[in-house]
Formats: sequence, structure tokens, C-alpha cells
Amino acid sequence: MNILLTGGAGFIGSNFINYFTAKHEKINVVNLDLLTYAGNLENLKDSESRKNYTFVKGSILDRKLIEELFEKFKFDHVINFAAESHVDRSILSSEPFYMTNVIGTTTLLDVAKKFGVERFLQVSTDEVYGSLGATGKFSETTPISPNSPYSASKAAADMAVMAFYHTHGFPAVITRCSNNYGPYQFPEKLIPLMIINALNGKKLPVYGDGMNVRDWIYVLDHAKAIELVLFKGKLGEIYNVGADSEKPNIEIVKLILSNLDKTEDLIEYVKDRPGHDRRYAIDSSKIEKELGWKPEISFDEGMKATINWYLENKTWWERILNKEYLTYYEEQYGKSLEG
Ligand code: NAD
Ligand code: TYD
Repeated sequence: MNILLTGGAGFIGSNFINYFTAKHEKINVVNLDLLTYAGNLENLKDSESRKNYTFVKGSILDRKLIEELFEKFKFDHVINFAAESHVDRSILSSEPFYMTNVIGTTTLLDVAKKFGVERFLQVSTDEVYGSLGATGKFSETTPISPNSPYSASKAAADMAVMAFYHTHGFPAVITRCSNNYGPYQFPEKLIPLMIINALNGKKLPVYGDGMNVRDWIYVLDHAKAIELVLFKGKLGEIYNVGADSEKPNIEIVKLILSNLDKTEDLIEYVKDRPGHDRRYAIDSSKIEKELGWKPEISFDEGMKATINWYLENKTWWERILNKEYLTYYEEQYGKSLEG
């Protein structure tokens, strides 16, 4: 079995590959990743030498390259992780978000339809549902109502995927997960940014009043949900994924400080993010009931493991901060594999 996996040098894709290629030795995974600022092959050191793992540098916007890959590998499945993923960047400049997240996804859909696949899994986000008030949760039937350019681009991609399912009978399935945390998360997102700033004695910038709520899940639990949906999910369905761990941002920041023995005077309340969604909370009872998935790692356990990981892998994040990680590809692979 051959899988085309896109965006596998990012945070969630690399955690998925490291888990999945070790477990399924007979399944070949081809990782197509453009290596934007968010792509870091150092995340994949554990998988690099595995026989069932191949890396290809290139974009999901490059139809010719994707066709060549389909001809060569005859993929059974596609898992699309590739995306521009950071809300703050989408506020500064939305075009790369619409290009990769929407046009990139439709390019993949077109080629996968042309060659035929058993399953196309679109990795989406709970952010497509918009923002909640103090109560309630997102279910799969909650109307899509995205508020940021990032979430709007992900919602557009989801609609394109579902339109292919309805129009062409294309074998698609979508997962919508809540906020992930864990090893290898790029230090622009809340949790790694706060850990690293605290370790460096820098201020921890909390947007607004710090009371925006996110629903956190350890990245490995998300990876296992994707694995299950890939093998057992029903075509044409959407599966929400979350671990029932709603936390206001300020609580997480304080938890990180106390775990690292740092004082709260490092906290700095800063100007709020424009259009900042107030609260996300996800109802994942469908994937639990229908596919038997449930999260295995509690928030406390996951946060301890994550903080320890950043403490033990200082070189990983220092190479990001000083941009050395950007040269790893050329050093390891040379230019020969470039798409
Ligand atoms: P990330 O930003 O860490 O990684 C994205 C990866 O995609 C990078 O390796 C990047 O190089 C690659 N990429 C970007 N543009 C590309 C292109 N045109 N062609 C090929 N590769 C390209 O993101 P992440 O946090 O790992 O998120 C992965 C997926 O999961 C995204 O689709 C995101 O929307 C979704 N998601 C993320 C979260 C979260 O909390 N991080 C939650 C739910 C869903
Ligand atoms: P983020 O990790 O960017 O994820 P998302 O916006 O996709 O949920 O942000 C998580 C929450 O943390 C969000 O409410 C914004 C807030 N936040 C801060 O308060 N300060 C920061 O420096 C960052 C990056 C985020």
C-alpha cells in the first residue's frame, strides 16, 4: 500500500509519520512537502532511514509533480496535511493561505480523481465552525462560519472536498480536530512560544484578557484518530476530534511558568488579535461511538511530556530560532530530489 502524505515536515504531519511508519512497516509513505518556514526535516530524523518512508520536496500546487508521483507510486490513499496554518500570519497576508489551502487542495483532488484513489483524507480544523459563546460545543452538523483568513481557507477546502464527494462520488473523508500541542510544534504557536520565551527569560505575550478558550489535544491522539479514519472512516463523512480539555489561554501560560519555576511577572498582556475567536470546544462523540477512538493522554500528562520535550530538545528549537534548520534539507539530501 502506498500513501501520498502532504505537509509531513510540519508539526502534526511529522508526528503522524514518525508514529505511522514505525507501526506499519509494509505501508509506504511518500511525504510531499514544500519546506516553507514551517517545514522542518529535523522533525523526521526518526523516520528518515526507514524503508517505507520517502521524502519529496515540492508543492501541492504543482500539478505536474503530483501527476509524476501518482504515475510512479500508484497511491492507494492521500492524506492532506499541507497548509499554511498560523492565524496571525493569515491576518498579515492571506494569499498564501488561499493558494495552498484552497487551490493546493483542489489540485490534489483533481489529480487524485484522475488517477483514482481508495481514500482521500482531508485534515481540517474545528476553526471552520467559528467561535462559541460561553456554552455549547461544535458538532459535525454545526454550520461552517469561519472568522479568520486561515479558517476561511480551510472551510473552503472542506467544501471543495465534499463537493467532489457529492458530484463525482470521490472517496473523501474529513477530520476536524481542535488545537494540538506536543513535540515539534513550531514556536509561533501558543504553547511552544510560551515555553521557549519562559526558558529564555523573555516576556510571554498574552492577547487581550487571556480568557480566550481553546480545546487542547495531544498530537499523538490526533495522529491515532487520523489513522483510524484512514482505515475505517465512512466515505463522505466528517469526524470531529478533540480531547475535552478546554482551557483559557492564561491558565496555560501560568501552568507553563509554574512548571518551569518562573515567576508570573514575565506575563505581558498585549493588544488582542483582530477578530480573535473567543471559544472553541469540540464534541467528538461521533468518532468515539462510530470508530471507537478516544484520547489516551490527559492534558496534565501531555503538558508535562511537552514541557520536558522542549527542555530536552533545546538544540531543535535553537536551530529554528537562529534559522539553521533551513539548511538541513540541502545538507542531507543535496539538490537532486527537488521537485
Ligand atoms: P504546520 O504549519 O506545522 O505544517 C504545515 C506543513 O505544510 C509544513 O511542513 C509546510 O512546509 C507544508 N506546506 C505548506 N505549504 C505547502 C505546499 N504548498 N505544498 C506542500 N507542503 C506545504 O501545520 P500543522 O500544525 O502541522 O497542521 C497540519 C494540518 O493540520 C493543517 O492542515 C492544519 O490546518 C491542520 N490542523 C492543525 C491544528 C493545530 O492545532 N496545529 C489543529 C487542527 C487541524
Ligand atoms: P495559536 O496557538 O495561534 O492557535 P489558534 O489561534 O489557531 O487557536 O493560539 C492559541 C490561542 O493563544 C489563541 O487564543 C491566541 C492565543 N495566543 C496568545 O495569547 N499569544 C500568542 O503569542 C499566541 C501565538 C497566541
